[in-house]
Amino acid sequence: MSGPHSGPHSLSESESELIMGDPGPSGRFGEFGGRFVPESLVPACMELEASFRRAWIDPAFRRELDHLLHSYGGRPTPVTECLRLSEELGVRVLLKREDLAHTGSHKINNVVGQALLARRMGKKRLIAETGAGQHGVATATAAALFGMECVVYMGAVDMERQALNVFRMELLGAEVRSVESGSRTLKDAVNEALRDWVASVDTTHYCLGSVMGPHPYPWMVRELQRVVGDESRAQCREILDGKDPDVVVACAGGGSNAAGTFAGFADGTSSVLVGVEAAGGAAMHNGIPGVLHGMRSALMQDESGQILEAESISAGLDYPGIGPEHAHLAAIGRARYETAGDTEVVEAFQRLSKTEGIIPALESAHAVAWVIRVAGTEVLPTGSTVLITLSGRGDKDVAQVRDILRRGETTPR
Ligand SMILES: Cc1ncc(COP(=O)(O)O)c(C=O)c1O
Repeated sequence: MSGPHSGPHSLSESESELIMGDPGPSGRFGEFGGRFVPESLVPACMELEASFRRAWIDPAFRRELDHLLHSYGGRPTPVTECLRLSEELGVRVLLKREDLAHTGSHKINNVVGQALLARRMGKKRLIAETGAGQHGVATATAAALFGMECVVYMGAVDMERQALNVFRMELLGAEVRSVESGSRTLKDAVNEALRDWVASVDTTHYCLGSVMGPHPYPWMVRELQRVVGDESRAQCREILDGKDPDVVVACAGGGSNAAGTFAGFADGTSSVLVGVEAAGGAAMHNGIPGVLHGMRSALMQDESGQILEAESISAGLDYPGIGPEHAHLAAIGRARYETAGDTEVVEAFQRLSKTEGIIPALESAHAVAWVIRVAGTEVLPTGSTVLITLSGRGDKDVAQVRDILRRGETTPR
């Protein structure tokens, strides 16, 4: 294994002063982040970082990405004011509607960017890990769009509870490989994808689905998701007469929709930033610093460093870690991290459906559940404004929630 690698790159003063700026060649966010990978992957990570740096300042790349996100991905997604829920809760609730993006979640923003980059790097094959299946569906979609081969690793447990998304990936031409090791969920799927990448790095791009893993992924994926926060900030200012929301909330699994949202508000606003984890996968609450999947971050682990199993109703939040920048944002006090439990999440799922006609993804329902719980308290006082990133739509989850409600319980397994 090798530690974070340094290379010849100096940051402009303004970039290094930003809270969510460029972490530089070390990929460090304070004491978190870095690049802890086998020697065989170091050149691949460095090549990826160099390619992304070049592409990100290339107007032609940015134009093509923006065009695809608009004409294919459906951007910009709207911000919707929830009039009925706001009245019930006594706070003004705005939703950033990533559920309306193509393929049904924010995952498409990251994937279109990485697929364009892979094509630029001459790679013909995309691999990905997936939990809820949304990132797998988005990757299979981009692979179809660009005519690339696609293999998606998915834990056997997740394949069962997200069977519809498995079929969608297959329809899109991807091969879905069932992962039978460990807890047979997202953590194990990441392991398998990394194993594949070690053996296939010459032809393959690993399209990682969140702000986690070795440098440059946490930074690159955050930049590709920044569009969510940038759009939201401008849209909120229109709705709120030039003001920013008092509180900005997003659910956090690996943390990409939260990081993209926070990036639009972290610098230059006093909005309170809140990430909501699943109670059973709360790396920020129950975790301690450690190294997993190429990064140093907050991880759920026992005293001897064994990674603990996450346990959540939502496959997309069923991960024992979180992206390293979130650990840093918490350490410097710029963001705070809360949890939501399965029961209140199922209630929030139903409540948003009934009051606003919007069925959220179970992941996104965690952010809604937290807002419902704290509305009217000193954290979110009556009369304040809150933006929730609705990271995805609930179509993939309705069968699971139906079964849970029929059984009268809130545990899916
Ligand atoms: C709709 C939705 N929201 C959120 C997540 C969690 O990912 P992240 O924390 O990277 O946004 C997932 C993951 O699958 C998802 O499908």
